[in-house]
Amino acid sequence: MKKFLSMLLTFTMLVTLAACGASQEQGGSSAPSADASSQSEENTPPASSEQPEETPDSSEAPTETGGKTLIAYFSWSGNTETLAGMIQESTGGDLFAIETETPYSDDYDTVVDQAKQEQADNIRPALAAQVENMDDYDTVFIGYPNWWSDVPMAVLTFLESYDWNGKTVIPFCTSGGGGFGNGIDSIEAAAEGATILEGFHVGGSSVDGAADDVATWLDGLGLGQ
Ligand SMILES: Cc1cc2nc3c(=O)[nH]c(=O)nc-3n(C[C@H](O)[C@H](O)[C@H](O)COP(=O)(O)O)c2cc1C
Repeated sequence: MKKFLSMLLTFTMLVTLAACGASQEQGGSSAPSADASSQSEENTPPASSEQPEETPDSSEAPTETGGKTLIAYFSWSGNTETLAGMIQESTGGDLFAIETETPYSDDYDTVVDQAKQEQADNIRPALAAQVENMDDYDTVFIGYPNWWSDVPMAVLTFLESYDWNGKTVIPFCTSGGGGFGNGIDSIEAAAEGATILEGFHVGGSSVDGAADDVATWLDGLGLGQ
């Protein structure tokens, strides 16, 4: 009898354990599936499910807005143009010459007087051409010769023709010894909304030997190639 009771007890325990084990397996299998479903819900909220669409969009953005570099410059006797060419070689940017509709005189004394008068009158000489696709450019170098300790007024005409919000502007300048003059302040005021980075200046007579300094400056800005 004792043996029978012992076998009955053992049988009962085995049945109970088997039932318990089955219930844990169900619980175990349902728990991951609940987790999986909650994980999949967490992984597919509207925001993250939109991300894959946003990522191509944002990677296309630089292409659409260009992410390109423009080197716009004014030059009367060629020094600033030479410097612009060095920047172009290092950055691969597009060149744009800021030219007035009515060209300046080739005579030095005449242009010196004219520039002084234009500055005194705060005029904006009309330009010969516009940058048609300015929206394509994120980074715009602005080159000028120091004229009467400031930018030539044509540079202000140029700057005031465009929306600079979100763009990066980088000044460069050649001079007869006066450096940037007040040109940086004038550029900052006229290119309102732009981020202005550190500029580069070289004396007009030293421009031909400036390539290494230009490369160092551009490397410092992270813009060299
Ligand atoms: C109208 C005019 C005004 C100038 N005014 C100054 C000046 O105030 N300070 C200065 O250092 N150099 C002055 N210069 C010299 C030029 O800045 C310098 O020669 C420059 O390198 C010329 O650049 P570009 O060859 O690109 O025109 C002036 C030159 C001109 C033609």
